[in-house]
Amino acid sequence: MNKPEQSYQVAIDGPAAAGKSTIARLLAERLGGFYVNTGDMYRALAWAARQNNIDVDNKPESLAEQLPQWELEYRRQENRSLQLFFNGEPISQEKLRAPAVTAIVSQVARIPQVRQWMLERQRQCKSLGVIIMEGRDIGTVIFPQAKFKFFITASPLERARRRLAQSGEVAADATLAKVAAEIEARDHIDSTRETAPLRAAEDAITLVTDGMTQYQVTDHLAGIIERGLP
Ligand code: DC
Repeated sequence: MNKPEQSYQVAIDGPAAAGKSTIARLLAERLGGFYVNTGDMYRALAWAARQNNIDVDNKPESLAEQLPQWELEYRRQENRSLQLFFNGEPISQEKLRAPAVTAIVSQVARIPQVRQWMLERQRQCKSLGVIIMEGRDIGTVIFPQAKFKFFITASPLERARRRLAQSGEVAADATLAKVAAEIEARDHIDSTRETAPLRAAEDAITLVTDGMTQYQVTDHLAGIIERGLP
């Protein structure tokens, strides 16, 4: 007898540089699901805003006006991974992670029309089956009914250290103090915005990961999920 296709959502929220991406990717491998990075979707719009010379700080409405002309979707690749496509073209990690994109992405993500536009695109990912979706509002707004909800965080200094260790994500002249300040500024915008601010869902399990390796965190979360599945 064929095993019925499984379908459930794992929401992983938390502040910048808390290690969510690595953990979500490892969890997806272990559970045989799809890893969906919603931060990359906001980064794609930040990249597009730059390409179109849109001043997101002073004219957020110019970006909102462009949305009907834009399309953004995750497409399934052969090896169970997903590739983000913007207006029919694959968009590279190099573009999405560029420091100039990181510098404006929080401003893009606070525009209410942008969040509304993302809502349906992110909810569509449910049709993939088992998804491990990482972001800031997955457990609170996108999938409030998710079967598993986690809020992953770490102290600001630990997060700055981790981010500094990731080449390609910080400017060439980055220092620990500069990276910590940049992360703090982003956390502030993300958690104080009016629409879908960064916060743990009431029913989320919060994990502070200082002193834990990514494998320890993944094992811990996978254990909770595996015990919760039929
Ligand atoms: O996870 P990240 O650092 O790549 O996210 C980039 C930005 O997008 C970050 O400033 C917060 C925002 N974001 C959001 O507001 N909601 C999400 N679900 C994911 C990211």
